[in-house]
Order: sequence, then C-alpha cells, then structure tokens
Amino acid sequence: MKTVFITGGTTGIGMELAKLYAKKGWKVGVCGRDRLKFEESFQVERDNVTFYKVDVANREELKAAIADFSKSIGLDLLIANAGIGYAFKTKIPDFEWSYRMVHVNLLGVMYAFEAALDVMIPRSKGQLVAISSIAGYNGLPGVSAYSATKAAVQKYCESLHLDLRQFNINVTTICPGFVDTPLTRANQHPMPFLVEAPKAASLIYRAVEKKKMIYAFPFFFSSIVRILGILPRTWYRALMSIKSVNYSKD
Ligand SMILES: NC(=O)c1ccc[n+]([C@@H]2O[C@H](COP(=O)([O-])OP(=O)(O)OC[C@H]3O[C@@H](n4cnc5c(N)ncnc54)[C@H](OP(=O)(O)O)[C@@H]3O)[C@@H](O)[C@H]2O)c1
Repeated sequence: MKTVFITGGTTGIGMELAKLYAKKGWKVGVCGRDRLKFEESFQVERDNVTFYKVDVANREELKAAIADFSKSIGLDLLIANAGIGYAFKTKIPDFEWSYRMVHVNLLGVMYAFEAALDVMIPRSKGQLVAISSIAGYNGLPGVSAYSATKAAVQKYCESLHLDLRQFNINVTTICPGFVDTPLTRANQHPMPFLVEAPKAASLIYRAVEKKKMIYAFPFFFSSIVRILGILPRTWYRALMSIKSVNYSKD
C-alpha cells in the first residue's frame, strides 16, 4: 500500500486530495490544528485516513507526526499544502500576519520536507510536492507577504527538484489559480476562472503522477499570469495601475 502525508488536509484542497488518495487505496495521513474540522470533513470517508493535530509552524511537532505516520511502511509522497492567506488586501502590510505567513507558508513547507527526507533519503525513493500559488509568479498588490512566501516556495522547490534527483526523489511545485475553498470564500475581490476544489485535486493528482517539475492551473489564467511575470517591470507596473485594487481594509 502506498502512503501519502498531506499537511493541512482537513479542509479545501488538502481535504479533497486526502479523499482522492484514500479512494485510490493509499494510506493517508493529514494534519491540521483543529481536530473538529477533520471530524466534520471526514464523517464517512475516514478509512485509511489518520489525523495528526499539528501546527506546521512547529518543526518538532510536524517531524514527530510524519515520523510516526511513516514508521511502519515508509512514505511515498509528502504534500506540503497547509497555508494561510489574507481576508483583506492592504497597502500597509499587517506585519504580524505577514510573519505568521512566512512561518506557515514557507517554513511549514521546509519543516515538512525535512521530516519527509529523513524517511525518503535512506530508502532512495519518494516524492515531495508543495502547493505554491500563481500569486508566486508576480508581486501582487495588496498581498505582499502571500506573494513572497509563494514565490519563495516555487524557487525552493525548483532548486530541490535539481538537487534531489540523485536520490531518486522527485519534487513538484503546484501553482493553483483561484480554487473555491474556505480560504477564498473570505475574499472580497473578484476571482476569475474559479475552480471547484474536487476538480483542483484531480488536476493536482495527475500532475503529481506525471512527476511534473511545476504545474500551474487553470491553463488560460495561469498563462496570463506567467506572461505578466516575464514582461518588463515598467510594463507590469503600468498594467497593474490600470485597474485600481480594492483595498478593503485601508
Ligand atoms: N484556494 C485557492 O484559491 C488557492 C490558490 C492558490 C494556492 N492555494 C494554496 O493551497 C493551500 C490550501 O489552501 P485552501 O484554499 O485549501 O485553504 P483552506 O481550505 O483554508 O485549508 C487550509 C488547510 O491548512 C490547514 N492549516 C492552516 N494553517 C495551518 C497550520 N499552521 N498548521 C497546520 N495546518 C494548517 C487548515 O487546517 P486548520 O485550520 O485546522 O489548521 C486546513 O486544513 C494553501 O497553501 C494555499 O495558499 C490556494
């Protein structure tokens, strides 16, 4: 039986991925800070899914959970999915929340990879996946720390993809556009090309199976964002000034 540990697997994209892998016969470990969320989300499909109450910003907690989950049959796949965003866009950053985002969205990925590699490197096999975002392609107005953490995750994974090939370990970065989850339901701005969470999970599953280096979706929206990313920055600045951002908190 294959094994996957998914951080932040109690709601949204992580929950849909956990259900999909469990349905395909994998043994699944998920973590989150709130056991109630797990119990609500997995009322029926709980076979083969183990919950760990862990804050991914706590390196030791996460390490212990991943070690416990892997101790009997190893770890084939780690998906570092847990993440937090903004309910509001702000011109002046909320620095406390920005630091928390670095802890969860960036260090949380590093801690998860560290714990997984403890298991994977001695066995010379495994796959690491991080859920970044298309927000990592450009410094988007109003969500500075979110864009920064997701860009950092992209580059971190790109390097590791090259470094870990010699250990037969593949690294995939996933960059979703807008997905309908509890995270985005708080958003007060338009969300073009919104994807349903089960659809997002099946696209991610396919990209992971194909061992892609990086996968962004939906195709049309992510293509526009990537083109914005390679434009001269003076053009980017001009384009981003055309549509004034709705800074709901300022
Ligand atoms: N939805 C989108 O449009 C979208 C787009 C691009 C990228 N993403 C990324 O996709 C990932 C999943 O997002 P989502 O939309 O599915 O969000 P979500 O529905 O809010 O789910 C987030 C999950 O992460 C867990 N989590 C949050 N902070 C945690 C922490 N400190 N320690 C452990 N678990 C934690 C949550 O559980 P607890 O609250 O119980 O801890 C929950 O299970 C995030 O990295 C997000 O940035 C989402």
